[in-house]
Amino acid sequence: MTDQTDTIARLDAFLDRTADERLGDYVEFLRIPSIGTLSEHDADTEAAARFLAERLERWGLEHVEVSPTGGHPIVYADWLHAEGAPTVLVYGHYDVQPVDPLDLWVRPPFDPRIEDGRIFARGAADDKGQVHLHAWAARAWLEMEGRLPINVRYVFEGEEESGSTHFDGWLRDNRHRLSADLAVISDTGFFEGNHPAITVGLRGLTYLQVDVTGPDVDLHSGTWGGNVQNPANALARIIAALRNDDGTVAVPSFYDEVRPITPEVHAQFQRLPLDEAEFAAGIGVPELFGEAGFLPLERRGARPTLDVNGLWGGFQGEGSKTIIPAHAHAKISCRLVADMDPERTFERVRDAILAVPVPGVRVDVRPLNHGMWSLVDIGHPAVAAAATCLREVFGEEPYYLYEGGSIPAGASFGTILGLPVALVGFTNPDDQAHAPNESMVLANYEGGARTVVRYWQALADLPR
Ligand code: BES
Ligand code: ZN
Repeated sequence: MTDQTDTIARLDAFLDRTADERLGDYVEFLRIPSIGTLSEHDADTEAAARFLAERLERWGLEHVEVSPTGGHPIVYADWLHAEGAPTVLVYGHYDVQPVDPLDLWVRPPFDPRIEDGRIFARGAADDKGQVHLHAWAARAWLEMEGRLPINVRYVFEGEEESGSTHFDGWLRDNRHRLSADLAVISDTGFFEGNHPAITVGLRGLTYLQVDVTGPDVDLHSGTWGGNVQNPANALARIIAALRNDDGTVAVPSFYDEVRPITPEVHAQFQRLPLDEAEFAAGIGVPELFGEAGFLPLERRGARPTLDVNGLWGGFQGEGSKTIIPAHAHAKISCRLVADMDPERTFERVRDAILAVPVPGVRVDVRPLNHGMWSLVDIGHPAVAAAATCLREVFGEEPYYLYEGGSIPAGASFGTILGLPVALVGFTNPDDQAHAPNESMVLANYEGGARTVVRYWQALADLPR
């Protein structure tokens, strides 16, 4: 036992000693504008993959590969010399969200700066910081001890933010060389107030686009108004039909498979301390809005939604321009919970859209991406071990959380590889992921590296 305490102390000392170099390396990673969803950034996204692969190779990981997928590549690396010890598959993503609206960033999103104990840049939290701390935790072990206490396989993808389009195919194709005992995903975070947490559930996603097409070109609204259906009005009519005034989704059969919240789960939700007024004020809204009869955290983690994510059409410039737009568009997504099916939900929403009576225009609905929800077995000893390490490093008992976000890969590790999953992430809910001025709290980044270093030892120590 004391041997292990000494080992952890040496690894902590390594992380202390390398703090500046590590931060510099993190900054360099963040400088790469790896916006996976925008094709103009394909080369940058590829560069972020190569950045990671180069480090993993240099620090002693083996079989390092930038593995093609048909989309952005998957960075694979392993170290498999801990005979008799468990094998862990570590997942994260190196792609980041787009940065618009750019004018709201205090500094350019790919020119990281450190202020108030945070590092600000797109991807600082979601998910480059977490991927980076994993790579450095491996480096700490290999450089200080010449070994890892467990076997690891790193799988870092570049399409998470665009729906992990090629991920499942890659997993299936590579299943034969991905044997493991556990998948550890670091792409989640802490509870409100920056309290350590383990994620119990993630929601799934159905994402679609609606295109409403009217006349060949924009028309003079004086000459034509009154004689043609307006695509923008028609789209508004469609969107309005999808939700009731009380916030529930008006799509027929939408809720049919939704797993009810049991009294036990409700009690768990109720135990989480959340000040509703503070929660609302923190994002600048006068009050929360959502389905009646559920706690805000239940609405986030255990109830499905339908939201417009983007809406455009017609004149957007300064002043007025009197036209009937030729077309109008919306991007709409649903967050899904157990036991909803993403494809069936798409079909139901599509049918509801096509059933709205808007004569005189053409309405097209197409799927953009799907992601499955997932639930974690919190009774699994590997999950309990993560909680212990979080408590050791952050000095607090972690919360167990149902998150509202989605990580399609989370379900795939179960369905394709048959692995249990531990969702162990380190971001603060106020990091502004997906928004302007994203940041990562440096104490979380540092604590994250120290948690991972301990976690590998804790997994090695579990009775097999
Ligand atoms: N890191 C997030 C997932 C997340 C969000 C976990 C909030 C916990 C709390 C991830 O990178 C993400 O944003 N995923 C997308 C997936 C989608 C495109 C399929 C999401 O949730 O919108
Ligand atoms: Zn993420």
